[in-house]
Amino acid sequence: METTPFFIFLFIHLSCLVLGFGSVMVTDLYGLMWIRDRVRFTQVISVSGVTEKFIWAGWIGMVAAGIPLIILKGEIDNLMTIKLFFVALIAINGIILHFLHKKVGKYKKGEHVPNLFMFRLMLSLFVSQLSWWGALLIGFLHRHVTTIINWPDMPWLVSGLILGAFLMIWGLGEIYFKVKEV
Ligand code: HEM
Repeated sequence: METTPFFIFLFIHLSCLVLGFGSVMVTDLYGLMWIRDRVRFTQVISVSGVTEKFIWAGWIGMVAAGIPLIILKGEIDNLMTIKLFFVALIAINGIILHFLHKKVGKYKKGEHVPNLFMFRLMLSLFVSQLSWWGALLIGFLHRHVTTIINWPDMPWLVSGLILGAFLMIWGLGEIYFKVKEV
């Protein structure tokens, strides 16, 4: 594993991490500043329009460098299965965020943004943060604690439970905010 090609791909992997995750943090910090009334909503929209492209570029680079890394490593342990689940979740959630972003740009200045829409946006941002931090932590553990971590016993079940929990929160939120708005 500790070969020159491995380190070259690891370097690309980490460079793309800086680009992708760095852009996620910039976007979310702008969102946080908007909630605290420090920046205008239009600023958040224009910043996230730019960072979205960097996030996708970083994600694609991480996957492109991650594949040779995993081939060189020669093993997908249980924790890696969960990491790959997080990587897939980042992409699916990224597509949802893309459409939410497109919709939010249509609201005019001062126009009331429905609570249901804000709920969808917040949930999507939460899923994004959790998945990035999850993949990051697992990558770190593999590299700096032990290379093979065959834990938990049923990674697909754990991934399914995480997905199920998100879908349940989403469903409940949809019902709650729709009933509230009637
Ligand atoms: C958003 C996606 C990803 C994040 C945030 C991420 C994060 C990380 C981090 C932080 C490291 C440790 C680097 C170090 O400390 O030197 C790492 C290593 C690694 N990553 Fe990723 N990664 C992602 C996607 C992927 C994908 C898609 C694959 C495979 C297809 C992959 C395979 C690997 C491998 C094989 C290593 C070497 C450590 C090991 O698992 O033994 N990563 N990653």
